[in-house]
Amino acid sequence: MTPTEHALNLEIDRRKASPIYLQICERFKAAIAAGHLKPGDRVPALRGLATQLNTARGTVETAYNILVDEGYLQMRGAAGTFVSSSLPDSVMCTSARKGRERADVPRSRQAAAADIGHDAKPLRPGLPALDAFPRKVWSRLVMRRARSVDLASLTYPDPAGYGPLRERIATYLGLSRGVECTPEQVFVTSGYRASLELVLRGLAKPDDSAWFEEPGYFLARNFLVEAGLKLVPVPIDHDGLDVDAGQTLDAHARFAIVTPSHQSPLGVTLSLARRMKLLDWAQRAGSWVVEDDYDSEFRYAGRPLPALKSLDVNDRVIYCGTFSKVLFPGLRLSYVVAPERAIARFEQLTKSMNAGPPHLLQAAVADFIAQGHFARHLKRMRALYAERRGVFAQALVKAFGDRASIEPPSGGMHLVMLFNADANGPVDDLAIAARAREAGLAVSGLSSWYLGARTKRTLRGMVLGFANVTDAAEAARLARMLRRAYDG
Ligand SMILES: Cc1ncc(COP(=O)(O)O)c(C=O)c1O
Repeated sequence: MTPTEHALNLEIDRRKASPIYLQICERFKAAIAAGHLKPGDRVPALRGLATQLNTARGTVETAYNILVDEGYLQMRGAAGTFVSSSLPDSVMCTSARKGRERADVPRSRQAAAADIGHDAKPLRPGLPALDAFPRKVWSRLVMRRARSVDLASLTYPDPAGYGPLRERIATYLGLSRGVECTPEQVFVTSGYRASLELVLRGLAKPDDSAWFEEPGYFLARNFLVEAGLKLVPVPIDHDGLDVDAGQTLDAHARFAIVTPSHQSPLGVTLSLARRMKLLDWAQRAGSWVVEDDYDSEFRYAGRPLPALKSLDVNDRVIYCGTFSKVLFPGLRLSYVVAPERAIARFEQLTKSMNAGPPHLLQAAVADFIAQGHFARHLKRMRALYAERRGVFAQALVKAFGDRASIEPPSGGMHLVMLFNADANGPVDDLAIAARAREAGLAVSGLSSWYLGARTKRTLRGMVLGFANVTDAAEAARLARMLRRAYDG
């Protein structure tokens, strides 16, 4: 095998829906992005690669032609085929190229290390089971709405959200999350970060700071940093956010941004004592608590705790929900429950921002809820995820033995596999995750979910979405791929 063939991970999965020639293209792009294949490197000959992969020469040729068309490869006649010598920097990902551990990994690099793209690659955290979504029912509802289009639905939608959907959300939150709110408090948005934007525009002042969970949801973190908010990392322990530490670090922060039901990513629940302490602090400091309740519908042990908002007697909690987990993220629909004292401000703002999410999709979701499909779907997904969670955790235990600690989570759609330190000290989870991504998995190292620099105390591990792990064979295959990435 040539050095170039070594650099390529050419594992082809014949059960994948994606055709073999596309898988070959992906592998080449990943190897180039990771720096394993460099501009000017010669790539394997068509026939040799076809034999190695046990596939037709034409299949490899199709892949090479696409890569040439896209500018990744250059054919130089009898001399062979080479990685293009003029590749733009943007196709070469530095975080994957240099996987070596450094305690002071700069933030931009850690952000890149956590970037798992947007597609449905295996193990992507937070992606619901796409195979189990009732697509027929959904398309029937969308089609019916599309066919019966009336003039009213052609105009600008209500910027605060489609009225009947706001009503359905308010009823649902009262029944299932203990959140008592009126439809006027519910503002429909296009995803959690759009909700945060509304909150910041409505309530933040220049130079404001916010407590942010450490580790915490990196997409929200990146958005808030971009928006100019000063983030104060507050540690998480077994009881969730350490409120005392928050008060010591910054007693006058304007916001605390938290995931109380199912901490993202560690999965712990904010204890009742901490909830009371957090609310008490917010009341005394005149601050706002942003509750990100993204996947609390899925709970596998005991009853779900009601939302933090249900305890909010002083009107200091801004509740954020999303349809990304309970339906699907391509929908881009989410919502904010405004504190009563901020309703007028939010209303004024939504009018000045954009005109709100498309009417058609909001109406179809309202129908989906009204006709009972939503409740049925959630019930089915709870059972399905409980099963997939168990199967995947078992496969990981088998593949990693005592190298890692794997506890099936009590809720949600992802689990955290914690790497045990080896003889050389803490394991470099960023390098392992980069290798796993090169192999086609959408995983991120746990230490990239931290805002602060990596230290010996930073937990090392992997955040793994299990909702799309369809059966034991698939679980075993993915666990083996992770193990190979771990072994290096
Ligand atoms: C912690 C957390 N909050 C919120 C969301 C929802 O984001 P969105 O509504 O933009 O899809 C996610 C999705 O992955 C998440 O992991």
